[in-house]
Amino acid sequence: MEKILDVISREVKEAMKAGGYEEKYGKVTLSNRPDLCEYQCNGAMAAAKEYKCAPFMISDKVAEILQKNPMFESAESVKPGFLNLKLNSEYLAEYLRNMEADKERLGSDKCQNPRTIMIDYGGPNVAKPLHVGHLRSAIIGESIKRIGRFVGHNMIGDVHLGDWGLQMGLIITELRERKPDLVYFEEDYAGEYPEEPPFTISELEEIYPAASGKSKEDEKYKEEAMAATYELQHGRRGYTALLNHILQVSVSDLKRNYENLNVSFDLWKGESDAQPYIPDMVQKMKEDGFAYISEGALVVDVKEESDAKEIPPCMILKSDGASLYNTTDLATIVWRMKDYNPDEIIYVVDKRQELYFTQVFRCAKKTGLVKPETELKFLGFGTMNGKDGKPFKTREGGVMRLEYLVSSINEEMYKKIADNHTVEEQEGQETAKVVALSAIKYGDLSNQASKDYIFDIDRFTSFEGNTGPYILYTIVRMKSILKKYQDKTSLPEQAEILPAHSESEKSLMLEISKFNSVIESAYEETAPHKLCAYIYDLANAFNHFYHETKILAEPDEAVQAGYIKLLELTKRVLEICIDLLGFEAPERM
Ligand code: ARG
Repeated sequence: MEKILDVISREVKEAMKAGGYEEKYGKVTLSNRPDLCEYQCNGAMAAAKEYKCAPFMISDKVAEILQKNPMFESAESVKPGFLNLKLNSEYLAEYLRNMEADKERLGSDKCQNPRTIMIDYGGPNVAKPLHVGHLRSAIIGESIKRIGRFVGHNMIGDVHLGDWGLQMGLIITELRERKPDLVYFEEDYAGEYPEEPPFTISELEEIYPAASGKSKEDEKYKEEAMAATYELQHGRRGYTALLNHILQVSVSDLKRNYENLNVSFDLWKGESDAQPYIPDMVQKMKEDGFAYISEGALVVDVKEESDAKEIPPCMILKSDGASLYNTTDLATIVWRMKDYNPDEIIYVVDKRQELYFTQVFRCAKKTGLVKPETELKFLGFGTMNGKDGKPFKTREGGVMRLEYLVSSINEEMYKKIADNHTVEEQEGQETAKVVALSAIKYGDLSNQASKDYIFDIDRFTSFEGNTGPYILYTIVRMKSILKKYQDKTSLPEQAEILPAHSESEKSLMLEISKFNSVIESAYEETAPHKLCAYIYDLANAFNHFYHETKILAEPDEAVQAGYIKLLELTKRVLEICIDLLGFEAPERM
């Protein structure tokens, strides 16, 4: 469906033309004075310069033309030359009826040219527990993927596991100290390796920090770990088998964690999957004259003349020939292009990695790993801070594990729900989980991704204010009204959304009509926070309408049925939006 602002702009442009002015001056925007009007056009101000007359002469003339147009309830010219517009209520109702008729998409059309877009998010490191830093990537990436998919693009989410660095060598080294007799360490063993991993997830999670601690104190231990990393990266069989075990154990644990967050990936590839592409890639970079040795390392220059500050060369291989984070990211681009040929790759990563990605992207473009038109986009997010404004920590000052954070919010939420009314333990726990997820995700997504924000459990879990639970509460309220209505009557077949009977109803209808334009800008600006801002306004508009209207006590059946239809549409819009944000509403709360 055409966006309502476009429909209105078209009429105003026609009127400009009819008045003898250029069409381009007829652009309409939402009013920034909702107390005075719903839409406005400021074109007469600019047009006055071209036509060398007072702006209000133009706005007067155009207003006069628009007053005859049935689309508008009023069109006013206001000095010095503004056009203030109000939409005709029947026209607005008709627009909403058309939205409603498009059951699945509510008037938000699929894009004309679907693109293949890979999205790299999550980025957990195997064998290390997920911590809150990974939370943002997961939440933001998941929402962007869902929004893109809704718009009609082919979105491919890849978790991009960190499974190739020193952490692997550390785990192998520590395992070797603890269980030196394992067959994986026998150098010339040529048989099959066992299927069962030689450790559990909790052992693994304990092994890594232990090894990492030791390597900081013991130089020899660190060298061993580096040597193990090198051997793993150069194909030592026993170590490759261990890597596969580590992956097997971690990935099933990670999947469970992500599932709890309503986050899922199409691909579970990792840095290690890039390994087979490294030798040819490096070879070609050398042959083409891009890569050269500098201070022992292999690098590619990526600085550009217009750079305000110096961008250092992109390192391709360390002096010992070992691959780096850069190497796997570049070689990952190689297989992504080969297997999926994406039009765009979006990286949802901590914004502190921005310079790094500038280097990687420039190197990929320069050396021809991607096509000139392939878009490489870095979506850097800010830090999630605690109430003290410092990066979120446990009470003891350690890194907060994601699981722990989630379960403490679940508990907090359960307390609130149980305080509000009596619930069965199990239903209460389940509801608490659903609502808690909305608190976490909305708390995050309602901020512009690039900004740091304060993770404030009290505020995020509140049922009032700009929070996830408030949005869910509003939806649950609608469900309850619908249920009460349906218990008494069923919706007559000819029921339809009617022209607004009150200011508050019209405001609600105007909010609903913005749906397709909000989806479009959330997608184009990769900005889930725009969806949050919209549903907050929409929920407020609904609650205002609800407080001023006796929906269930309305004596006129047709009017009441119209309210119910409007409520259903509002609910659908909210439900689609929260699904795009990655959470859902319970039946009751
Ligand atoms: N594993 C990395 C980390 O924990 C994030 C990976 C981001 N994605 C990428 N393609 N480099 O910091």
